[in-house]
Amino acid sequence: PDRYVVIGNPIAHSRSPAIHQQFATLTGQRLDYGLCLSPVDAFATTLQQLRAQGIQGANVTVPFKLEAAQLATWADPRVSLAQAANTLVFTPEGEFHAYNTDGLGLVRDITVNAQTPLANADVLLLGAGGAAAGALAPLIEQQPALIAVANRTAAKAQALIEQHTSIAQQYGVQLMALALDEIDTAALPSINVLINATASSLQGATLPITQPARILSKHALVYDMMYGPAAQPFLNWASSHCPHAHLRDGLGMLVEQAAEAFAIWRGIRPPSASVLQSLRHEVD
Ligand code: ATR
Repeated sequence: PDRYVVIGNPIAHSRSPAIHQQFATLTGQRLDYGLCLSPVDAFATTLQQLRAQGIQGANVTVPFKLEAAQLATWADPRVSLAQAANTLVFTPEGEFHAYNTDGLGLVRDITVNAQTPLANADVLLLGAGGAAAGALAPLIEQQPALIAVANRTAAKAQALIEQHTSIAQQYGVQLMALALDEIDTAALPSINVLINATASSLQGATLPITQPARILSKHALVYDMMYGPAAQPFLNWASSHCPHAHLRDGLGMLVEQAAEAFAIWRGIRPPSASVLQSLRHEVD
């Protein structure tokens, strides 16, 4: 059977093999999907070795998404905007084609699984690192009214929106950059969708937003791109301030980005609902 791997460091905890094996079963495809631990300073060598082994494709996770984008011989436009790739296709000619399905997975989880419209919504995206960068273009394509990007380091939020000026104009979306600690006092419209793409939870830090209830609409969706226990500090904080908010962690995003990658490799989109359900039991 065709072979795929997820490359990262660390990688042992990855749920991608289980997800892709379930997709394969559900679509009647035969494939092997394994883990690949790459040395942090030898990602390019790892790719060459995988190619020599006849691997068809790879998912790429922390800390290699940026390098994957740089080493690609062809990159989807979303990769160029995000400067990060999470899905590689190894062509028979020895080329590496790069895609980024993270943002698509996020958008699909919000609009389809959580049934929250992004069109015309006012969105607040926290963070301006790799995770936020991967999400921005797919969010813009949903044509929300506004995406405000707030980051601890405001200059990074500003740089990120400047990279997306042209696509935002194309879709008629207003972009705005601010510092996290300006959110309390900023003149923002009532936010319908708040997305945490910062690593603050991992560090046990709380965000410098003292009055989230002031900025959120009553039944806002509050979303953390992390899943399971890692998402809880942020989601607990949000629910304590905004009891009517809908809370969602990033498990659906994980499954949906995998489904998009599977579709690129196999030409068939796997059903994701049952996979998300079974994973939910394991994670919670
Ligand atoms: P990732 O790929 O997960 O996005 P990253 O590119 O290192 O990782 O980005 C981390 C993000 O989390 C950044 O937006 C970072 O803010 P800075 O750009 O100011 O560094 C944010 N972040 C990390 N720790 C944080 C904290 N304690 N409070 C607020 N934001 C934090």
